[in-house]
Amino acid sequence: MTITALSKKERYQLTVKGEETDRPPVWLMRQAGRYMPEYMAMRKEYSFNDLCLNSEAAARASMLPLDILDIDILIIFNDILTPLADMGIMVEFPDGGPVIRNPVRNSEDLNGLQYATFKNPPVAQSIRRLKELVGDDVPVIGFCGSPFTLAAYVVEGKMSRNQDEIKRLRFEQPTILAALLDRLTETAASYLIAQIVDGGADGVQIFESWGGVLAGNGDYMEFAGLYQRRLIEKVRAVCPDTPIQLFLRGSGGRVPQMAASGADVISIDWQTPLAVARQQTNLCLQGNLDPTALLVPGCIEDQVARMVEGFDWRRGWIANLGHGITPQASVEAAKNFVKAVGNLARKGG
Ligand code: CP3
Repeated sequence: MTITALSKKERYQLTVKGEETDRPPVWLMRQAGRYMPEYMAMRKEYSFNDLCLNSEAAARASMLPLDILDIDILIIFNDILTPLADMGIMVEFPDGGPVIRNPVRNSEDLNGLQYATFKNPPVAQSIRRLKELVGDDVPVIGFCGSPFTLAAYVVEGKMSRNQDEIKRLRFEQPTILAALLDRLTETAASYLIAQIVDGGADGVQIFESWGGVLAGNGDYMEFAGLYQRRLIEKVRAVCPDTPIQLFLRGSGGRVPQMAASGADVISIDWQTPLAVARQQTNLCLQGNLDPTALLVPGCIEDQVARMVEGFDWRRGWIANLGHGITPQASVEAAKNFVKAVGNLARKGG
């Protein structure tokens, strides 16, 4: 069967539904970032926070991967921590990672948090502006952090490898952690709904960057999985037709739990082969090249072939990395990735 060329938006929408397309859509998590000289040039003009709040600048940053890589899906330039300001959480972005001045560690801190609801926030304005710039044929997705991942930053107050503070809270005062997760679920739901309803986002992705650190004995489901599912239910109740994607770092062995979240697209890291994930779910999969491969432009074609070994890439697959692109990645390697995915369909096989 020959399928005529589709618009980027049609390709995305058909793929999410598991239908065959002309080729798999491809994008990169954190695709507008420091590996791009054009992004670094914008950062000379704007602080990171300004870029998140200024919709014209955010739209221009979001568009760079379309101009430079001819990417299929644009993600709005923003950060998972941006909505926390509306809860009274003071987030700063110095070099070396985000810092929170007033972390939440006890019930008093928790009671001091404000309720955040979003009506046409800057991120929604950025999405609308981006859609004006790129036209209706390019899908634009919004995003948020999962409740547990947001809680990890809110409790730790900074980047943390082991997440000791949030785990201490889990073992010492689990009801406070649960109450914090409830509050963050409300914030994240309202933030995603605003991106869809006010901004017109064509899909949304939930980043579960830290839930993977939780024990597999039930803790993952109790403190991460449960709130992903509640968040998805809240968004779906208002926006039933918008695809919801769930990314989990630490997805190895957790594909069935991810599928149970109710998400439409399951975005896995590089530890599980796509072919194995496919045995565990029929949902659309996204991923999962090891981002470190993008340091070496010459290895990409082979690595893409390895990534899809034994996997039917023709339907239900959005090509992406297994986590965000790093500042050290080469633009040439990113271009090779987009080309190699396109070549799969040209070569058939
Ligand atoms: O994908 C895109 O191009 C859209 C933009 C985007 C950013 N952050 C911009 C950003 C997205 C989707 C995010 C998500 C995000 N932010 C996550 C989830 C994804 C993941 O990687 O697990 C997390 C955990 C954050 C929190 C955050 N923001 C961290 C840990 C850092 C510092 C570490 C780092 O990568 O630099 C940020 C800052 C940040 N967010 C930058 C960018 C481009 C770099 C800041 C700069 O430009 O100086």
